[in-house]
Amino acid sequence: MAITIGVAGITGKFARLIVKSLFNSPDVQIRGLCRNASKLPESFRDFPRVTIIQGDSTDLDTLRRFTRGCDVVICCYLGDNDFMTNGQKLLVDACDLENVSRYIASDYCLDFTKLELGQHPAKDPMKLVKAHLETKNNVQGVHVLIGAFMETFWSGYFGVWDPETCKLNYYGDGDELWEATTYETAAQYVAAVAKDQNAVGMQHFLGDRRTIRDIAQDFADVYGKKPQLERLGSLDDLYSKMQTVYQKNPSNIYAYIAMFYQYYCTNGQTYLKKELDNSRYPEISPVTFKGFLNAHKMRDLADAYQNAGSDV
Ligand SMILES: NC(=O)c1ccc[n+]([C@@H]2O[C@H](COP(=O)([O-])OP(=O)(O)OC[C@H]3O[C@@H](n4cnc5c(N)ncnc54)[C@H](OP(=O)(O)O)[C@@H]3O)[C@@H](O)[C@H]2O)c1
Ligand SMILES: *[C@@H]1O[C@H](CO)[C@@H](O)[C@H](O)[C@H]1NC(C)=O
Ligand SMILES: *[C@@H]1O[C@H](CO)[C@@H](O)[C@H](O)[C@H]1NC(C)=O
Repeated sequence: MAITIGVAGITGKFARLIVKSLFNSPDVQIRGLCRNASKLPESFRDFPRVTIIQGDSTDLDTLRRFTRGCDVVICCYLGDNDFMTNGQKLLVDACDLENVSRYIASDYCLDFTKLELGQHPAKDPMKLVKAHLETKNNVQGVHVLIGAFMETFWSGYFGVWDPETCKLNYYGDGDELWEATTYETAAQYVAAVAKDQNAVGMQHFLGDRRTIRDIAQDFADVYGKKPQLERLGSLDDLYSKMQTVYQKNPSNIYAYIAMFYQYYCTNGQTYLKKELDNSRYPEISPVTFKGFLNAHKMRDLADAYQNAGSDV
């Protein structure tokens, strides 16, 4: 059945991979919203089933023009909390006014519904946008949870993998599970959810669940070299450290945000449900940690995050 899918923030890494996946469905029309269309790959601008709307994400008229005629809107915004909250709320308002049936929020993370407001500063917008969607009559919220992106996990910014010393740094006892999914696998699930008009509410997908010890073993199996596991302290130590850095200067997000992710990824509070929704879309083969490592040279791991979607 023909369907029109809107992609907000279509220039982004994740959005590109979703659109690439949607190109395989001949009956899907794509409307893309961005602030600067010259950032788009040529393959998007020239593709017959893609219509690009360039405009300001704070302008309701622009957002209504973008959402008009969409069956579903996928949000791929990434920015500061004001943009993630108020930018998305206005987009939800536009969807509601234009009778778009579903809005897929820019979540793609651990289970933020298990967090209190204020516990994880970067996840408050997801809670506020979900609450905003619940006040609407015409548009239903869809929330795709995927744990951490594997590309993010291996990035220098995340603080676990140190390519210089071939070390994996961790807090806890080393038996905590990491829940993670590649950009590409997550994009395939989001594309499938967008096409599936029955998919509403929380959606739980993962590529893998592994402890840091399992991940070190996967690494050794793939590269023939065992990374050193470096324990930096207990999870309580991590909690005190991240709170200290946070309270010293809450506006210096980069000083503490990776620690918040490490903490809430592994302390059990935000794990996805045991029985995942992967089985609803059996045509998708989720990439595991080992599969991810097999697809990358060791020296490219730390850059996999910034390079996500770059070959689209
Ligand atoms: N679970 C995880 O480990 C994890 C890690 C990373 C990201 N994520 C999630 O994945 C999603 C997408 O991330 P990504 O990596 O694809 O991000 P990205 O590549 O940085 O893309 C962000 C998009 O937002 C747009 N944008 C930013 N500020 C804007 C503004 N003020 N007005 C209009 N557009 C604006 C950007 O437009 P321009 O191109 O014009 O700048 C771009 O299209 C987000 O929901 C993010 O939270 C999850
Ligand atoms: C739009 O993107 C292009 C390509 O990245 C860049 O050269 C140009 O400066 C951008 N324009 C604005 C107004 O940001
Ligand atoms: C949305 O649907 C309502 C009825 O459910 C209708 O009154 C309204 O005109 C529709 N809006 C648009 C923009 O189509």
